[in-house]
Amino acid sequence: MTAEIISGKELAQEKRLEMKNQVESLKEKGIIPGLAVILVGEDPASQSYVRAKQKACKETGIHSELDEVSPSITEAELLAKIEKLNKAEHIHGILVQLPIPDHISEKKVIEAIHPDKDVDGFHPINIGRMMTGQESFLPCTPFGIVEMIKSKNIGIEGKHVVIVGRSNIVGKPVGQLLLNENATVTYCHSRTKNMAEFTRSADILVVAVGKPHFIDKDDVKEGAVVIDVGVNRNDEGKLIGDVVFDQVKEVASYITPVPGGVGPMTITMLLHNTVLSANRNLK
Ligand code: GUN
Repeated sequence: MTAEIISGKELAQEKRLEMKNQVESLKEKGIIPGLAVILVGEDPASQSYVRAKQKACKETGIHSELDEVSPSITEAELLAKIEKLNKAEHIHGILVQLPIPDHISEKKVIEAIHPDKDVDGFHPINIGRMMTGQESFLPCTPFGIVEMIKSKNIGIEGKHVVIVGRSNIVGKPVGQLLLNENATVTYCHSRTKNMAEFTRSADILVVAVGKPHFIDKDDVKEGAVVIDVGVNRNDEGKLIGDVVFDQVKEVASYITPVPGGVGPMTITMLLHNTVLSANRNLK
């Protein structure tokens, strides 16, 4: 079997086009969706993610502001910036790019963002709402993954979903979202014994460990759907996933590539959440 590729790049383009129209109709009603991004420090990967977010906003007609601050900023100064953005009427979404330096509490920063502007979906209130099936901002990468699966009309209900990785940003919430879609969910992580026994029983395998080529064809059941969240650089500086794509595509029924898979969808769902937040302002 050779897998069909789920192109996040193509799906993201389609969705961004739809969103551009939504933004135009919001503008006709006098609302310009606005996203504020705070980048602390000069981590090259974070800089590149933030640039991609800014570019996507511009293309979609969303107003975006970037505040690049020194890594020596104090926690109190950063919290004050967030508080100002919480009150700013033209800003509908606030995002502090993670990671932030160790002297600043990530928990405090996440909790300082007003839940109604938390377009990352990281605030405990939004996580709680998601867990109880209430309306909330869904975290962008997990949300994008579910959209990719649904775009191919792949049934989720009753499927065995195995998640490799249990981060707060991807692993845990993607399991919850797929549970909300009536999947049976198993989490694997660094302490899991005999991991391949689990991954080989997955109908849908989501890999989010951040380890290059962690999953190969022997870890995957024939016909499985494989979602690769990994973004790693190999020795030649090339982007590679957590999955050995060339091997696994011969076993899986569907697979996401790296690059051009989950990444573009993450940004798209951030735009979606920002537009959703601006729409709420109409009510
Ligand atoms: N760092 C890596 N991914 C993300 C993300 O989705 N949001 C934020 N704020 N920081 C990140």
